[in-house]
Amino acid sequence: MTAVIDFMLNRRSEPKLESPAPQPDILEQAFQCAANTPDHALLRPWRYLVVEGEGLKALGELFASTCGEDSTEKEREKLRRAPLRAPMVIVGIAAYRAHPKVPDSEQAMSAAVGMGQLSLALQAAGYGVMWRTGGIAYRQALLDGLGLAANERIIGFLYTGTVASEKPPVPRPATSDFVSRWPE
Ligand SMILES: Cc1cc2nc3c(=O)[nH]c(=O)nc-3n(C[C@H](O)[C@H](O)[C@H](O)COP(=O)(O)O)c2cc1C
Repeated sequence: MTAVIDFMLNRRSEPKLESPAPQPDILEQAFQCAANTPDHALLRPWRYLVVEGEGLKALGELFASTCGEDSTEKEREKLRRAPLRAPMVIVGIAAYRAHPKVPDSEQAMSAAVGMGQLSLALQAAGYGVMWRTGGIAYRQALLDGLGLAANERIIGFLYTGTVASEKPPVPRPATSDFVSRWPE
């Protein structure tokens, strides 16, 4: 088994993350991996925001501010604290370009694969990652607060940092459960 296969077979998300966050050279390389994603018509339909330090508090305030008037203080406080679960949060954004042959859905896929590449690169460098969205990712107030343009959507929040404690492995399905031949 190659090291790459072994690595992918053992990939897992890690929710318990602490400082230090990925170092700048590691981050730079990970973003180069993110850019190395399949991309129909080379539209480069993605970008990323790196949030850390005081920015995480500001992100939490933004999360909380998107709650409706019917929300409770408990709900708002949970969102306020959410970004503090890691020393760095990377916001993955799909930036849709108008193209006659490439629908937005394909561009979202390119952005999502880029997030996957980013995740694997950070994990290969020894950091933990956890891809999250939640209802907030789809709230217009959040997109506005992050400065997204009308053609942009959130692909996910990638929480990253040093693994504080490993979570139990998630059972994986047998390939026969999701792979078949066609025609049979
Ligand atoms: C687009 C996307 C959004 C996700 N959002 C959340 C989320 O908001 N909260 C959460 O607990 N897990 C979320 N997950 C799932 C976790 O990232 C993770 O994959 C899951 O907990 C299973 O763990 P594993 O990656 O170790 O198999 C999301 C995954 C994807 C692909």
